[in-house]
Amino acid sequence: MEYINNELCLGPLKKPLAVFCANYVRPIYVYDLDFISQRFHMMSQALKGVRIFYAMKANSNPEVLRLLKRLGAGADVVSVGEIKRSLDCGFLPEDIVYSGVGKTQHEVREALSLGIYQMNVESIPELERIGAIARELGCKASVALRLNPNISIQTHPYIATGLKDNKFGMELSMLPAIKSVLQQFFDSLVLKGVSLHLGSQMLEFSGYQEALQILKAVYLDLKKDFPTLQRFDFGGGLGVHYDRQDLESEEILLKGYAQKTLHILSDLNCELQSEPGRWLLAHCGVLLCQVQYVKETSDKTFVILDSGMNHLIRPSLYEAYHRILPLKKGSKIKRVDVVGPICESSDFFAKDRDLPEVKQGDFVAILDAGAYGFSMASIYNLQELPLEICI
Ligand code: LLP
Repeated sequence: MEYINNELCLGPLKKPLAVFCANYVRPIYVYDLDFISQRFHMMSQALKGVRIFYAMKANSNPEVLRLLKRLGAGADVVSVGEIKRSLDCGFLPEDIVYSGVGKTQHEVREALSLGIYQMNVESIPELERIGAIARELGCKASVALRLNPNISIQTHPYIATGLKDNKFGMELSMLPAIKSVLQQFFDSLVLKGVSLHLGSQMLEFSGYQEALQILKAVYLDLKKDFPTLQRFDFGGGLGVHYDRQDLESEEILLKGYAQKTLHILSDLNCELQSEPGRWLLAHCGVLLCQVQYVKETSDKTFVILDSGMNHLIRPSLYEAYHRILPLKKGSKIKRVDVVGPICESSDFFAKDRDLPEVKQGDFVAILDAGAYGFSMASIYNLQELPLEICI
C-alpha cells in the first residue's frame, strides 16, 4: 500500500482505490488479482514440485477462485458448499482435497459420488463413515489421515490446531485402531496420504519442523503396511505481517519455510501437497468503508464506520491487528478507537490507535483483509453484506 499523489493505492501495480468509492453504496472488499497472481507465483517457485491446494475458506470469491484455478492451484475445501463453489469456478473433482472434522453423511456421499481427489480424515468414526458409504456406493475412497502430533506453534489459541486438546486430526496413539479400520474397509478405502495442519499465522517454524519429522517417521511406518501411500500433505498456516508492510521479509520467511519443509520431506520421494490460504490472499484485499460519525466522549474519540465485526470479525474474535488508512492522505495524527455500527462492545477495528485525522464522510481502508474477511462476514443486526470487487 502506498500513497501516490495523496491517493491510497493497492498492489504491485499501485491501483488507486478512491475510484471505487465514487458511487458508494456500502462497504466494499477490493481484491487485486495481479497481486494474488504475484503471491501465487512466488509461493509455487519456493515450493517447487509441491501441489498447492488453495484453502478457499480464506476467500471464496468466484473471480479469485477462477484466477487460482487458471494459475494451476487445486482447492482445499471444508464443506459441500465449498465443493460446489469450487466446481462452479472451474475446479474439477480431481483438484479437490476435502478437510474438516464434521463431514455429514450427505456431504461424504456427495463428495464420493463426485470422485473428490482426497478426503482428509479427522477421526476414526469419520473413517468408518467414509468406508461404509464408499462400500454402499461401490467405489473406493482415497483417504489421507490428518494426524495431530500434539505440538504447539506460536499463534492465537483460536487458530492453533495441532495440540491434543484441539478437535482436529487423530492422535498418533490411535494409529493401531486406524489401521484396523483401514483393513476392515480394504474394499472401499485406499490410504493415499498423511496430512498435517498445525494452525494458522505461523511466523516461526520450530514446532512445525518437529511435527514434520514425527509425521515423516509415521509415513514410513505406514507405508510398510499400505504401499498405496504416496502423498504427504503438510497443510497451510504460513503467516503474514499485519503490523507493517514488509513484503521482502515475508519472501524470506516463505523461502525459509519452503526450504525447511523440503529439506525434511524430499527424501520421501512422494507427492507433496500444501494448503495455503492467508499467505496468498491477506495482503491482496482491503475493506473500504465510510466514516459515519466522529464521536467525542470525555474519555475518547470514536471513529464510527458503516462496517464492523459483521464484515471483518478478526479484530473482535482474535484481537487481530489490521492497519487502517484514509483513502486521502492525512497528516494530523489523532488517537482514536475505530468502531463499527454493531450493538456489541467487541465491535471494533482498532483501539487507542494513532491515525491520520478523519471526518464524517471520509473513506478509510482496512488493510490486509483479503483472507478471512468476506468469507467470515455475517448479516448480524441484519446489516447487509459488503460488496466485493476484483481489480
Ligand atoms: N488447511 C487446513 C486444514 C486449515 O484448517 C486451514 C485453516 C488451512 C489449511 C489454511 O490455513 P492458512 O494458510 O490460511 O493459515 N479465521 C482465522 C484463520 C482460521 C484458519 C482455519 N484453517 C483468521 O482469520 O486468522
